[in-house]
Amino acid sequence: MARYWQRRAYLIRGAIADFRDPVSLPMLQRLAARDDVQARVVMQDGARWHLEHGPFQHRFWKNLPAKRWTLLVQGLNLVVPGADTLLQRFAFIPYARLDDVMVSYATAGGGVGPHVDSYDVFLLQGMGLRRWRISTQPDRALDPHAPLKILRSFRPRQAWQLARGDMLYLPPHVAHEGVAIEPCTTYSIGFRAPDYAELCAELFADRFADRKLGSAYTDRGLRPTKHPGALPGRMIDGFADALRRRRFSRKTLGDVVGMVSTTPKAHVMFDRPPSPVSMRRFAAAAQAQGIQLDVRSLMLYFDATIYINGERIAPPARHQPKLRQLADDRALTARSVPAGMAGQLYEWYCAGWLHIAHHAT
Ligand code: SIN
Ligand code: CO
Repeated sequence: MARYWQRRAYLIRGAIADFRDPVSLPMLQRLAARDDVQARVVMQDGARWHLEHGPFQHRFWKNLPAKRWTLLVQGLNLVVPGADTLLQRFAFIPYARLDDVMVSYATAGGGVGPHVDSYDVFLLQGMGLRRWRISTQPDRALDPHAPLKILRSFRPRQAWQLARGDMLYLPPHVAHEGVAIEPCTTYSIGFRAPDYAELCAELFADRFADRKLGSAYTDRGLRPTKHPGALPGRMIDGFADALRRRRFSRKTLGDVVGMVSTTPKAHVMFDRPPSPVSMRRFAAAAQAQGIQLDVRSLMLYFDATIYINGERIAPPARHQPKLRQLADDRALTARSVPAGMAGQLYEWYCAGWLHIAHHAT
């Protein structure tokens, strides 16, 4: 972390020595047919790039050539338990920074072209071989004709061939291109960072209505004008004053970051338990077996506030350590769920945000 994170590329040979693909091509093709899974296929013919968005039905695969295409499936960790296990290996970085696991399955010669990403990524090689080339070139001009982000000119400076279990870390903005030497898979463990523009938009949006800038513009003493088309300068000054006067507390800003960071992506839907048990039975089962967060749940905390799936709660101090532990470990073991917390946890259980653990954890 000290030497490479957000600083420079880092090749780690044998990063996960015994790494086994958590998915096969037929499994990926089945996932790519679902409308709740984001899938894309990138094809190259000559110098031309093609991009198709899923869902892809069975017949789609029959019409593909043998080489030079890539299937990309986003959010693999949400639908394949083994991919969630893989993502959890990166929990040495705060969950607020972890985004998802994307997998790419490429046929020989396949790739998505030279490009830059604005986020950090770990590229973990699954089956087969892939050649990665990178460059720290400042020129990030894109090919205006390509249907995806492709650098107009790519001048690679370093190249490596990655085999199963090898992993390449890239900080944001390093130009890179991976080309499959033979059919291969690459797992991209991707990161995210709060976008300040989005946070500002959220800060002034409806759910923080009580914290807006307050009073509207007033203009007592306004004089008749011959230039009604002119925008009064005092409107701008008034707005500037209101912005200057408003101080947002760390608590408020924490709420914005916490709620935005735990808001599930637009296509994510939780499955409510089809026949939920009663609150009493839930409390007993949670105590006997423990609980675990759903893979789709995003749970974070800051000071005394807990954020989960875009909502915030301020639990009594005696429940905070356990809720923080639930956020860190994404589970609570048997006999460690305080009885007083059952009401809150039951609500989350009914929403499909957490489950009774199947085995005693
Ligand atoms: C890929 O796995 O083919 C693309 C991943 C990336 O370049 O970010
Ligand atoms: Co990339």
